[in-house]
Amino acid sequence: MLIDILTVAPQMVETALPHSILGRAIDSGIVRIQVHDLHDYAADRHRTTDSPPCGGGGGMVLKPEPIERAIAHASRLSQPDRIILTDPQGVRFDQEAAFEMACLDHLVFICGRYEGVDERVRLTLASHAYSIGDYVLTGGEPAAWVMVDAIVRLLPGALGCAEAPSRDSFADGLLDYPQFTRPRSFRGVGVPDALLDGGHREVESWRRLQQLRRTRALRPDLWARCDITADDVHLLESAAAHRCPQRYTEKEYAGARS
Ligand code: ADE
Repeated sequence: MLIDILTVAPQMVETALPHSILGRAIDSGIVRIQVHDLHDYAADRHRTTDSPPCGGGGGMVLKPEPIERAIAHASRLSQPDRIILTDPQGVRFDQEAAFEMACLDHLVFICGRYEGVDERVRLTLASHAYSIGDYVLTGGEPAAWVMVDAIVRLLPGALGCAEAPSRDSFADGLLDYPQFTRPRSFRGVGVPDALLDGGHREVESWRRLQQLRRTRALRPDLWARCDITADDVHLLESAAAHRCPQRYTEKEYAGARS
C-alpha cells in the first residue's frame, strides 16, 4: 500500500511513523508512507500555504493550490483510490472504514488545520472527509496518524499472527473481552477462575459472555446493530439464570474509583 500525507507540519507526522507496528510495516515493505510538506508546493518565495478568510474573521485558511499541486505530485506514479481530508465535519472514522481502506492500494491524506481549509478542497480535490471524533484538534496530523495506524495494522503481515486483527474489538461488532495476566490477585481483584482452571471451551465461552455483556452495558449503539447468534442468547440466559457476576459494568469504566 502507498500512503501520501500532505501537511504543513511534516515533523508532526514523521516523528510518529517509525514506532510500533507502523514502523515494522514500513520496514518490511508492507506500506510505503510519503510525507509531503505543503510549503514545498507553494508558488511564491515565502512558501505561502494559507491566507486570511474571505469576508474577514480571525485565523488563516489553507489555500487550495498547494494542495492541488501536492496531489498531482502524489498521483504521478499511481492514481489514488481515495483522497481523504481530515475534518471535524467529516464522516466518523470507524473500524469498518479502516477495513474498507485497508483493501485499497493508494491513499492520500490531506491534513486540515483548525482555522479552516478552503471549501474548494473539500468540493473539488478530496474524495472523502473523515473525522476521528467530536472534538477539534489544532491540526489534522494526529487524525491522519490515527487513521493510518488503524488501516495499516489490518494489512496482511502487519501484525504477528498472535495478534490477528480478526480478534479485535469491533471486528465482529462487539467490544473486546477483558484480559488478565499475572499476578493472580491485584488490589483484591482476582483473575477469573474460568481463565485459570477452565479448558479451552470454557475460556472461549467466558470471553464471549464478557464481550456480549460489556457491549450491552457500555455501547448500546453497537449492541443494537450487532448480529448475535442463538448460542449467544443461550450464553446470556444461562449466565443470568446462574447469577454469574457481571463484573464489567458501565460504572466500572466511567469512574467507579472516583
Ligand atoms: N481536525 C481537527 N479536528 C479533527 C477531528 N476531530 N477529526 C479529524 N480531523 C480533525
